[in-house]
Amino acid sequence: MKPKAQLTFSLFDEIPEIKTSNSQVKINKTKFLEFAQQLKTSSTLLILRNKIIEIKNILLNSTINSDLIVSSAKTNSETIEFNQACLLEDLNQIKDSLTLERAIYYVERLEKGVTSVKTSDINNINLNRWKEYDDILTDSLWLLDKRDSSGVHSAGYWGNFIPQIPNQMMKRYTKKGEWVLDTFAGCGTTLIEAQRLGRNCLGIELQANIAEKATGFISAEPNRYSTTWKIFNDDSTNTDYKSALESLRIKSVQLVIMHPPYFDIIKFSDDLRDLSNAASVDSFLSMLKNVAANAASVLDKGRYLILVIGDKYAGGDWIPLGFLAMNEILNLGFSLKSIVVKNFEDTTGKRSQKDLWRYRALAGGFYIFKHEYIFILKKK
Ligand SMILES: C[S@@+](CC[C@H](N)C(=O)[O-])C[C@H]1O[C@@H](n2cnc3c(N)ncnc32)[C@H](O)[C@@H]1O
Repeated sequence: MKPKAQLTFSLFDEIPEIKTSNSQVKINKTKFLEFAQQLKTSSTLLILRNKIIEIKNILLNSTINSDLIVSSAKTNSETIEFNQACLLEDLNQIKDSLTLERAIYYVERLEKGVTSVKTSDINNINLNRWKEYDDILTDSLWLLDKRDSSGVHSAGYWGNFIPQIPNQMMKRYTKKGEWVLDTFAGCGTTLIEAQRLGRNCLGIELQANIAEKATGFISAEPNRYSTTWKIFNDDSTNTDYKSALESLRIKSVQLVIMHPPYFDIIKFSDDLRDLSNAASVDSFLSMLKNVAANAASVLDKGRYLILVIGDKYAGGDWIPLGFLAMNEILNLGFSLKSIVVKNFEDTTGKRSQKDLWRYRALAGGFYIFKHEYIFILKKK
């Protein structure tokens, strides 16, 4: 029989922390709050520290039988789930406090993470447990070494973005059940991610065959939150959003994602309405502005528009397409919240082409593009 752990005040030898994984631990909420209460009524820092060591040992040693830990089979509404590494970090912070007052302050903070949820108006991130969101990026430089190719995602459509972009944006700027609009849906990367994250999504794509392909991909992805999605085969410079939204029985969207052609870097079709066929940079920018203005008309005030775009060279000069496009959108009544610079590796480039570009860069005094931008703009 396993020894029953006692929540006594005796000093345990601390078990070395070898578990540093992202594993989750299920805990009985009532027992946990009782334990927090015991901590708060400790008369000395030493007593409090010993209790923390005791609970850490229970967490780290599965052979100690304690009714604090819930087995997966017994999970119910009384159960709370913690990221084990984060919980241990919080317990260490309490244990290492220099005063009893400080330790109790940290205990109260931990208690809050269990008893209340604090979210903003634009996402489901529980700020009382913010340390557990280590999957969410908050730096403005993203060096991602590989694309998420799980499920139906594939790199097969030349010019699609990596799923991590819409994934991060939807987690930061939408709540579950809200609506996302992708004005350049391509093969449906945003819609696939939206479905996985429990967000509804509509996408606009000019090329009929690509819209059809995207529909096939999205349908093949399991829809475990029963979300709604639809791809419209249309020109996003003048999509009739009123009727599109009416057909979906919604009045507005809560996030817009725009991943346009980077002007003529990749020619997507022969259609003159395709932004990759714009006659000049100015005409590209004017088409892009129309797309943004049209989408902004159905975006809720205070919500976000994400523009993903890179720069280009023309006639030996760097054309700052990203910043020019950003300016067009700022002029529509948006404020700039952040600019993320993201790396990209040209996977399709042959070694010989890479060498040629390197030679040209050395000879011509320029740099080879290895980054693109994610502009995060807020509707005023
Ligand atoms: C950079 S790709 C977007 C890729 C998409 N993010 C994905 O992951 O598949 C740009 C897409 O915009 C489409 N497009 C270009 N002009 C358009 C327009 N006026 N209306 C709607 N789609 C357009 C192109 O056909 C292309 O599929």
